[in-house]
Amino acid sequence: MHTTVGIVGGGPAGLLLSRMLHRAGVDCVVLESRDRAYVEQRQRAGLLEQSTVDALREAGAAARLDAEGLVHDGVELRWDGRGHRIDFPALTGGRKVWVYAQTEVVKDLVALQLADGAALYFEARVRAVEGADTGRPVIHYTHDGQDKTLTCDYVVGCDGFHGVVRAAVPEGVQRTFERVYPYSWLGIMADVPPSCEELVYAHSPRGFALYSMRSPEVSRLYLQVPNGTDPADWPDERIWDELDARSGLPGGKLERGRITSKSVLPMRSSVTEPMRYGRVFLAGDAAHIVPPTGAKGLNLAVADVVVLGRALIQWRRTGSKEQLDAYSDTCLRRVWRAEHFSYFMTTTLHTDPEQSGFETRLQISQLDRIAESKHAAAELAMNYAGLPLP
Ligand code: FAD
Ligand code: DHB
Repeated sequence: MHTTVGIVGGGPAGLLLSRMLHRAGVDCVVLESRDRAYVEQRQRAGLLEQSTVDALREAGAAARLDAEGLVHDGVELRWDGRGHRIDFPALTGGRKVWVYAQTEVVKDLVALQLADGAALYFEARVRAVEGADTGRPVIHYTHDGQDKTLTCDYVVGCDGFHGVVRAAVPEGVQRTFERVYPYSWLGIMADVPPSCEELVYAHSPRGFALYSMRSPEVSRLYLQVPNGTDPADWPDERIWDELDARSGLPGGKLERGRITSKSVLPMRSSVTEPMRYGRVFLAGDAAHIVPPTGAKGLNLAVADVVVLGRALIQWRRTGSKEQLDAYSDTCLRRVWRAEHFSYFMTTTLHTDPEQSGFETRLQISQLDRIAESKHAAAELAMNYAGLPLP
């Protein structure tokens, strides 16, 4: 089988790229190793920035997002008994964020692509990509119990952090920059209306906590926990007590409800450069990951494929490779900005187990500065609500 663009991975990046290409009449195939139900239920991100929403609208994939997504104009930071609201539209010239779960973005894109007859194969596990530096790279994959090959003009690795496409870039060419953090998040989903109207990011001597939501009926909450934490050590009452203790909210008591899931998420920053080698491109988590504080992971994946989708469409229509050649540099500028922002949010709000009192006072000083200075607050707001796409 041959296709113009072979896309490995049917997460948000692979699905949106295939949507953009399919609508522009560029032939493409998505190979996803998991089954449809698994991909649609994998709990991950929940916050979409302005340019992600714009991209989904442009791809004709935002009908349900526009009907059901919760538009948020701000978030609250809390520390040292104080709180400060960051007003996004006022500080960014009108930009906002949306609470709409990654599971729903994925469900919407899968349904649209299948309804349009696009080539999207589940349970198709890619084993390797060969010939990145030839004119016709080949994807080797297993589907229906058979080993198969797909030749392509271009291959895009949207196969996440543990993907296989990155290995198509030779070791001598590839550079990876990485940082692992000395804490993780315990994330829970609970059937209870959120206790706060907007997201709350709380710095506390007991560690960081984040109060988020999925809908007016479902809360999404996170606690900083030590690396290696077993969720079994966190019975429901302990989680609610700790969320109360860290919130610093006046009154301090959250409404409690049935906890429907618990998981532990380690935190890491990682960037692989370049994001292209020959006829193979990397996009989304396949090329970079961020710690979740600030919700950049999914948004960055979308930004990559918007740039790449436009470049592939331009090449197909005009034969020009100008945008394809600029892809890696264009994306890496935004990637490193988001890496810095995620690192800043993470290290400003969490308590390192080895942290000294000196470092805690620096964190408090930084948070005070955001509350006192419109410029400091605007810098946070612009990065959080998302910088415009190039
Ligand atoms: P992925 O969503 O990882 O998609 C990659 C796809 O490729 C998967 O469907 C996978 O099954 C498939 N695949 C992998 N290998 C192969 C193969 N060999 N052959 C075929 N297919 C393959 N971000 C936030 O902003 N906020 C959060 O709260 C948040 N929570 C997260 C929690 C977890 C547990 C994880 C892992 C990530 C979280 N993220 C969060 C990050 C965010 O979800 C990712 O940035 C986003 O999913 C990136 O999308 P992607 O399409 O690049 O990669
Ligand atoms: C969510 C996750 C984040 O990492 C974040 O910064 C904000 C919200 C969430 O899952 O709702």
